[in-house]
Amino acid sequence: MGPGRNCPLAYRYAPASLDRDPEIVADAIYVVGGLYGNVEALDRVRAMAAEDRDAALVFNGDFHWFDVAREDFLAVDGTVLAHRAIRGNVETEIASEESGAGCGCAYPMDVSDAEVSRSNRIIERLRDTAREFPHARKKLGELPMNLVAQVGDARVGIVHGDASSLAGWGFAHDRLADAGHRRWVESAFRDSRADLFASSHTCLPALRTFDFGAGEVAIANNGAAGMPNFAGRRSGILTRIGVAPYAGAALHRVIVRGAHVEAIEIAYDHERWARRFLAAWPEGSAAHDSYWRRISDGPRFAPESAWPRAA
Ligand SMILES: [Fe+2]
Repeated sequence: MGPGRNCPLAYRYAPASLDRDPEIVADAIYVVGGLYGNVEALDRVRAMAAEDRDAALVFNGDFHWFDVAREDFLAVDGTVLAHRAIRGNVETEIASEESGAGCGCAYPMDVSDAEVSRSNRIIERLRDTAREFPHARKKLGELPMNLVAQVGDARVGIVHGDASSLAGWGFAHDRLADAGHRRWVESAFRDSRADLFASSHTCLPALRTFDFGAGEVAIANNGAAGMPNFAGRRSGILTRIGVAPYAGAALHRVIVRGAHVEAIEIAYDHERWARRFLAAWPEGSAAHDSYWRRISDGPRFAPESAWPRAA
């Protein structure tokens, strides 16, 4: 398999490694994955958190991506690293020289070769920017691959990909809907002793509960904080987990061990973001070819596929 298809060995961890004391104890956390260098979405998330008393921000990887402009890279890096963060495949791959993993996305076969090769070109350009900031780059490489949080009675495994890999696709919406995948999900919860997983990486949201006989558990994949998640909707999504519900509207909500697990819309300034994106990635560039349509129109994806039962 070529670069961008592999899941490097160093990306793997045992689900049982999440069976540990929490690093974060909070009444509410915002899990923000897949910011993808969207400075406007980051501004919006900070404003939301400032209004939501006691909410802690946790960035679960791929906060960098489109931010190849030096000032954008520094703005994203400085803000994110002032909070709790784990590294995604993007941060892992720009922290080191080319490993053979390309963008480290471990893309499944339904993603085209052309798209994988464009992603590899994006990571090369982003790595060029990161090289100018050796100290920041070193810190990215030192970020953990996962965190454990305690929110009320709920134990939360915070990951980028899934329960066993930084770039795993085991928490993708279609896998979670697949009955054949249930046994894997069950073992992930059993081995980690988590009540919840908060993930990202697959770029499409999912929020599903499961009951394996010891009470409901849930997987909340926020999709992307910095890109549209649904057709015709120009906003990102974050996962909020709190002992009390969000004061505003939630796209979807489940309750696990008394914790409210919610998909919350990030209504960032699209026009401003579009101008910033186009300045770095004009027509004909790798990121424009792969992402402009999604940034403008959203992906071909509907809320019914993310959370089959209406909120
Ligand atoms: Fe990722």
